[in-house]
Amino acid sequence: MEYRHLGKAGIRVSALSLGSWVTFHHQVDIDKAVKMMSAAFDAGVNFFDNAEAYAKGKSEEVMGAALKKLGWRRASYLVSTKFFWGLNEGINEKDTLNRKYLMEAIDGSLKRLNLDHVDLVFCHRPDPHTPIEETVWAFHNMIESGKATYWGTSEWSAMEIVAAIEIAERHHLHKPVMEQPEYNLLHRERFEVDYARMFKDYGYGSTTWSPLASGLLTGKYNNGIPKDSRASLDRYDWLVEKMTNKESLAKVKKLGKIAGDLGATLAQMSIAWILKNYNVSTVITGASKVEQVKENMKAMDVVEKLTPDVMEAINSAVS
Ligand SMILES: NC(=O)c1ccc[n+]([C@@H]2O[C@H](COP(=O)([O-])OP(=O)(O)OC[C@H]3O[C@@H](n4cnc5c(N)ncnc54)[C@H](OP(=O)(O)O)[C@@H]3O)[C@@H](O)[C@H]2O)c1
Repeated sequence: MEYRHLGKAGIRVSALSLGSWVTFHHQVDIDKAVKMMSAAFDAGVNFFDNAEAYAKGKSEEVMGAALKKLGWRRASYLVSTKFFWGLNEGINEKDTLNRKYLMEAIDGSLKRLNLDHVDLVFCHRPDPHTPIEETVWAFHNMIESGKATYWGTSEWSAMEIVAAIEIAERHHLHKPVMEQPEYNLLHRERFEVDYARMFKDYGYGSTTWSPLASGLLTGKYNNGIPKDSRASLDRYDWLVEKMTNKESLAKVKKLGKIAGDLGATLAQMSIAWILKNYNVSTVITGASKVEQVKENMKAMDVVEKLTPDVMEAINSAVS
């Protein structure tokens, strides 16, 4: 495993990490989570990603119970959560980054995770209705209280991120240090273009999500929607359109050929391609089965096979 600084922060994250969206609770119970987290940890993963909204809090409960069973030293791993959508319908409890919600939400997450602090905490989305200054102060206070160690953003615009950094600098508060954006071979623009100056000028870190575009970049959707796949799950039928998009599937087929020539699976090559970008601090992988975790962790070995010629072939396959 390779470890990368989270932007300019002192903390280092494993270049590959494991997240629990869709999977924990719906597809993965506590025993399965123990096996998957173990396989990742054995491969060198030190960061496990979660969010309040995942399975409406149940994903945090599964991860908390799995961590208890695993009994790892607390200092040996990092756990995250994220806030925005909320768990309740109250006017101040959903789709918000207001101070009251955030201060109560962290207590709920820590209880479900069975931890006394999380290492990374994210604003899961920007909130256009709360002043950024109020949110910056709330996260500063959360860190000062010892309930979280580093904070960051997810799917914020570069302008919103810079505004948060500058407010924090002006008041000598804890600054946000990392963004959690979608980044994969089929979704590149925001990461590569919009964020370019932010990475360069502010040394912002990144924990990128959906490296396989929810599984599309494994080739498993090349002949339709397989049973037992994410797009076949009841609540995720909105993915069907994306997984059957002819243009995307044509790109996936070309990429599959390049991966085959390298002696790698398409999943491994797609993850390795993300690792070639040094603005990425960690690629958060997702998996519904322990075998997928093991396959995806081997992406580390594929990075060195991505020579300039191969990178060019990949680029032309997706452009
Ligand atoms: N901040 C945000 O807004 C945000 C949003 C989304 C995700 N995230 C984070 O990023 C993490 C990763 O995102 P993601 O789960 O969408 O990642 P992904 O890698 O794009 O998709 C993961 C899914 O693809 C399938 N898969 C993975 N490896 C495979 C393999 N080797 N062979 C065949 N199928 C494979 C599995 O689904 P099936 O087996 O069910 O088909 C798996 O659950 C999440 O867990 C979460 O922590 C954050």
